[in-house]
Amino acid sequence: MSRFPQSRLRRLRQSAPVRNLVRETSLEARQLVLPMFVREGLTEQAPIGSMPGVVQHSLDSLRAAAVEAAEAGVGGVMLFGVPEVRDAQGSGADDPDGILNVATAALVAEVGDALVVQTDLCLDEFTDHGHCGVLAPSTGSGTQPSVDNDATLDRYRSMALAQARAGSHLLGLSGMMDGQVAALREALDSEGFQDTLLLAYSAKYASAFYGPFREAVDSQLQGDRRTYQMDPGNRREGVREALFDVDEGADIVMVKPAMGFLDVLREVRDAVDVPVWAYQVSGEYAMVEAAAANGWINRDAAILESLMSIRRAGADAVLTYWAVEAARWLR
Ligand code: PBG
Repeated sequence: MSRFPQSRLRRLRQSAPVRNLVRETSLEARQLVLPMFVREGLTEQAPIGSMPGVVQHSLDSLRAAAVEAAEAGVGGVMLFGVPEVRDAQGSGADDPDGILNVATAALVAEVGDALVVQTDLCLDEFTDHGHCGVLAPSTGSGTQPSVDNDATLDRYRSMALAQARAGSHLLGLSGMMDGQVAALREALDSEGFQDTLLLAYSAKYASAFYGPFREAVDSQLQGDRRTYQMDPGNRREGVREALFDVDEGADIVMVKPAMGFLDVLREVRDAVDVPVWAYQVSGEYAMVEAAAANGWINRDAAILESLMSIRRAGADAVLTYWAVEAARWLR
C-alpha cells in the first residue's frame, strides 16, 4: 500500500496546520547561542564592515546587548575579546584585567542567572602573530612558524583558570591543540572548578568561511592554520576528533563551520552521546547578508532554513550571529 495512487506523499503537505503537525525538526530560541565581540578601549560600539549588523562592543554596549539577548530567550552568549596590546605569548588572555576576563565578569553579574555565559578559549586574538598557540623556536629561515602543542597547553591551562575565576560558565575550546580537553578538565578540577563546562570544538576545519571573523577580531594572522585545524576533505577524522574529546571529558562537542559540514555533523551526532553543537560562522552569515542586500535572496527565509538545516543534520544547539533576531521570530 505504500505506493501511488493509494499513497500520496503530498497529503502531508496540504496545509500549514498539517505541515506543522508532521514537521520532524524543531527550532527554538533556547537552542541558539549568540557570539559577541568586546574590544578593549572602545567607548561605544563599532561596526564590522564584512558582517553588517554585527558589532565590536564596548563594555557598556556589551552588557546592554546581553540583556536584550536574554529577553529574546536565547540559550547563551559566547564571548570573544579583542585586546589593545598583543604579544608572542598572548599575555592578555590569562590576565585577570584582560578585556575578555573583565567582560566575562561583567556579563555574569548582569545576565548570569538567565544565560549560559561562555568564553572563547584560544590565543589567536591575543598573540601578535595571530596563531592559536605559542610558536616553537624557529627552525631556520623560510619555514612556516610551527605552533608548539604542549607549550600551548600550559598557556590554555592558565587561561582556563582565569576565565573560570571571572565566572565563565562554559569554556569554548577552539584552538585545536591535541589533549586540550583533558588538560583543562584536570586544571579546572584541581582548583575546584568542577562545574565549569567544557565545549570542545572537536571538528574545526581550516575554512575560508572564517574570513569576516578575522576582521571582527583584528586578526594578525599571516599564513594559515592548516597544521592544527582540520582538512575540509576529511569526514572520518572529524568523528575521530569528537570521540577523542568525549573520552577526554568534553561535556559538549562541536562541528564548525556548519553548512559546509552537515555530513560531519550527522556522523558525529550518531557517534557520541553528549550534546553536539554547530557554529554557523562569519562567512555563512556574510554570504546570506550580501545576497539579501542585493535583493538576490529572501533574507529571513534563508536564515530560518539554514538554522533548521543545521538542526536537522544533528545539532542540539547552534552558535549563530542571528541568534537574537531569529529568537524573536520564533517566540
Ligand atoms: C579562533 C576562532 C575562529 C573563529 C572562532 N574562533 C577563527 C579561526 O579559527 O580562524 C571563527 C568564527 C567565525 O568565523 O564566525 N579562536
